[in-house]
Amino acid sequence: MNQFTKFENISTANALISKALEFKADPHMHPNKGQGKRLGLIFLNPSLRTRVSTQIAASNLGLESFVLNMDKDTWALEMHDGTLMNKNKVEHIKDAAGVLGSYFDILAIRAFPSLTNKQEDTSDFILKQFIQYSGVPVVSLESAVRHPLQSLADMVTIRENIPSGKKPKVVLSWAPHIKAIPHAVANSFAEWSMGCDYDLTITHPEGYELDEQFTQGADIQYNQNKALEDADFVYVKNWSAYNPYGKILAVDEDWLLTEKKLKKNKKAKVMHCLPVRRNLELGDDILDGPRSLVQAQAKNRIFAAQAVLDGILS
Ligand code: CP
Repeated sequence: MNQFTKFENISTANALISKALEFKADPHMHPNKGQGKRLGLIFLNPSLRTRVSTQIAASNLGLESFVLNMDKDTWALEMHDGTLMNKNKVEHIKDAAGVLGSYFDILAIRAFPSLTNKQEDTSDFILKQFIQYSGVPVVSLESAVRHPLQSLADMVTIRENIPSGKKPKVVLSWAPHIKAIPHAVANSFAEWSMGCDYDLTITHPEGYELDEQFTQGADIQYNQNKALEDADFVYVKNWSAYNPYGKILAVDEDWLLTEKKLKKNKKAKVMHCLPVRRNLELGDDILDGPRSLVQAQAKNRIFAAQAVLDGILS
């Protein structure tokens, strides 16, 4: 594996899920795999889980990691070619990524979308600039379009909790929010769930349709209560509208998931990638109750990242 930015195919996904579960059972089974090599973790946006879990994963493999908060600690980057750099951007991505590629054996990048420039966001412009100019293997730590390390950890968590012998019914359920939130987690979760051959329903208010490239094959349901019937896993996530791009729309119904909404479905487990705004996106009663898998998902981020780094080092 030379790059990890999206779901590739079911056999690669299954191999990564199995490898992550092996690492979970024995995190130090390959303590020298990354010896003598360096991982650069480049953040253009904030993070708790992605940052720390990937550093722990690297440490478990003997891989030295360095975190660079490029949004705060380094020169402001110009991303566009041919620009006259006479304003506030100090360094061009070509130069910065080239330098980072000479310092590190693997680069991992977090670059959120602007939610204002649809064309650049949907082409994953910033991630692709790093890939083009660094010349080393790149791992996405969440791009404008996808969050593949989160989705891999989510697939590991589903695998651990799957009702035996059953193709699980997985529901991606839109949640309210006060801010315009990117589509990456929702896109990726849909991509991996269908890629892993799960029965996926996506439920959201009308107007919050995701890009069809991620939803083709899923059941789209505007009635949340109907979608929740028979769900084995409910993945709660907010995202902003796609059309008009990056906007919050007025919604009449209450989409907050609580125990009351799930009272007819005793078996459903509830997932969220975190951070979560309690009682806005997801009720305390669910987050603090036996259905919640959110802590398991966060822990599995370590082993998902370790499986990916192990694959790149192999
Ligand atoms: N789920 C997730 O990516 O968390 P962070 O934004 O804290 O890294």
